[in-house]
Amino acid sequence: MSARPPPTYASASTDPTSASAHSWVKPHPRRRLHPLGGSWLGFSGVENLVFPIITRRLVLRPWREADRADLAAMNADPEVMADLGGPLGRAESDAKLDRFTAAYERYGFCRWAVERDGEFLGYAGVMPSRPDHPLGPHHEIGWRLVRTAWGQGYATEAAGAALRDAQSRAGLGEVLAYTGPDNHRSQAVMDRLGLRRDPAHDFEASAGRIGRRRGLVWVSHPSKGSEELVFRA
Ligand SMILES: CC(C)(COP(=O)(O)OP(=O)(O)OC[C@H]1O[C@@H](n2cnc3c(N)ncnc32)[C@H](O)[C@@H]1OP(=O)(O)O)[C@@H](O)C(=O)NCCC(=O)NCCS
Repeated sequence: MSARPPPTYASASTDPTSASAHSWVKPHPRRRLHPLGGSWLGFSGVENLVFPIITRRLVLRPWREADRADLAAMNADPEVMADLGGPLGRAESDAKLDRFTAAYERYGFCRWAVERDGEFLGYAGVMPSRPDHPLGPHHEIGWRLVRTAWGQGYATEAAGAALRDAQSRAGLGEVLAYTGPDNHRSQAVMDRLGLRRDPAHDFEASAGRIGRRRGLVWVSHPSKGSEELVFRA
């Protein structure tokens, strides 16, 4: 069997003495089976989970306590949240960070904090679906950037790396992406990532504070989404 080509980004910092690595949230020390199928990550030891994903310009990393204020500021911005039910308060934003951290601890992937040169730009990454989602259990990739970081290709760069990581390192199969009919910027990211539009899976759901809304669905399969992912940004 031929070996898979290495990912094009530098992942899995192997320097256990790295100060930044130790300041990140540590994964739970026990291996767990992934509830949505696929082999569980295939790691030989949990220390392999402590890493940044490094792209040409960005670092994708697990969350730190110190990120709470930056995340809350982004989530409080009416322009960022225009298609997402309006600004979030601090408690809702903190709960989001807690969910991301819990996913990281449990599965080894999450919506990663994205930064450039130490500056917080937002997040991108894969999460398991909520239990009551109309599409049933699945994995979804999502992204959100601070307003000043739009228009520079960061969302596509970060999401592409997160998707490759989820489908190659973490061994996920199909990953979905969805957004509202009016969120043309997000739809453009899906297009640049080379995701396939899948109207058969469009859905309607009551999404908490967002209210009833239509979700347009895109899909990524590992064969198209990992090493072969093409950036069109
Ligand atoms: C959705 C969102 C992440 C998209 O961000 P974005 O910056 O438009 O997307 P990208 O990172 O792919 O950037 C592409 C743009 O950067 C430009 N760009 C500039 N320099 C670039 C570079 N070096 N490389 C690539 N693209 C570059 C592209 O030309 C493109 O510009 P355009 O929008 O004028 O066509 C952002 O609008 C956002 O956070 N929205 C609010 C949250 C949200 O709706 N999330 C999705 C919920 S489903």
